[in-house]
Amino acid sequence: MGREVASALARWFVLENFPVKAELVAVCDLVEKQREWFRQISTVQLITSEYSELLASPDVDVVYVAVPHNLHERIYLDVLNAGKDLLAEKPFGIDLNAARAVASAAKSLGRFVRCSSEFPFLPGAQRAYQIARDGSLGKLLEIHSGFHHSSDLDPNKTINWKRQNKTCGEIGVMGDLGMHTVHIPFRLGWQPHRVYAQLQKIYHERPDGKGGMAVCDTWDNALLHTDVLREGIEVPLRLEMKRLAPGETNSWFIEIFGTEGGVKFTTKEPKTLWTFERAKEQLWQRTDLGFQVPFPTITGGIFETGFPDCFLQMWAAFLAERAGKLEGKFGCVTPEEAVQSHLLFAAALQSQAEKRAIDLQLSSSE
Ligand SMILES: NC(=O)c1ccc[n+]([C@@H]2O[C@H](COP(=O)([O-])OP(=O)(O)OC[C@H]3O[C@@H](n4cnc5c(N)ncnc54)[C@H](O)[C@@H]3O)[C@@H](O)[C@H]2O)c1
Repeated sequence: MGREVASALARWFVLENFPVKAELVAVCDLVEKQREWFRQISTVQLITSEYSELLASPDVDVVYVAVPHNLHERIYLDVLNAGKDLLAEKPFGIDLNAARAVASAAKSLGRFVRCSSEFPFLPGAQRAYQIARDGSLGKLLEIHSGFHHSSDLDPNKTINWKRQNKTCGEIGVMGDLGMHTVHIPFRLGWQPHRVYAQLQKIYHERPDGKGGMAVCDTWDNALLHTDVLREGIEVPLRLEMKRLAPGETNSWFIEIFGTEGGVKFTTKEPKTLWTFERAKEQLWQRTDLGFQVPFPTITGGIFETGFPDCFLQMWAAFLAERAGKLEGKFGCVTPEEAVQSHLLFAAALQSQAEKRAIDLQLSSSE
């Protein structure tokens, strides 16, 4: 993910009339092969294996941290204590306690902190968000938000840190894919007050890459059936996070249905927005979207968007908001939203263990 950020910053000049300049000046990784790649970037002045060196650099204002989840809390806190702002990676700490510690340090130290979640910056996702926010859907009936992967269907896929609880976290796939599914619902004020979780572990071991087998103990797939209260009515919000979803390489989707309208978007059909209208006849209409990104770039309006584009847009939102220039546009996940996602995932673990729905106590400070 560090290289994705380097790619976004390297084409910062495509943003039109953007109020903030940004460039990559320092890089840290433990592995020389990873560090080597960054030597081709002319703006980079410091490449190190010690992140304390990067944090000591006066040229660094903002740090993006993409490391295994067990390292989030320590490194995020070190970044904040060094006086830098932070774009954290999800899940914003390995568990609820870690997320709370980081959110509380950000507040007490007065640092600007947000968490990564890029798909909501795609044109189709933005349109779905705006349609839901503007209230043209009537009474809400049901919401589905999900993120599906499929490479773990292969039992011969080698183990990595994301497939082990000690490095990925007990929340497993929810830590990996969950933030992507809650960003838009939370931003719309759709915080679940109850959750019933169906979590699955499919493969219990995987090749260790050295000729043997290693324990694979994380949750692979998660279905969270939640209730959201809107205008006194309980609305089902289903969150789907899957590492084993046949045929889905990286499918992020949102579907929102109301009595007057509906909207559906999936990255599987990245140009297409489906909207429902209850007129004389009931219509699902297909709109061919162009390059209608929140922060305009030199790319023409008829062209298609992809992963590097939404990643650049997320960075633009982060730096615009940091500079006080978001101007009502959609912002990155806040520390409070990240803590709320952990509250939900912790309740989901309890639901799975006790095979019952769990009520969530969402405090207003979180
Ligand atoms: N936003 C997204 O779409 C997205 C996608 C994938 C991963 N992620 C998140 O990004 C983070 C990293 O995931 P990844 O897939 O990039 O993992 P990765 O294993 O590919 O990369 C992690 C890197 O961190 C380095 N590292 C580990 N410990 C370090 C330390 N102490 N100091 C410096 N470098 C260290 C490793 O050498 C490695 O290069 C995770 O939080 C993950 O959930 C986000």
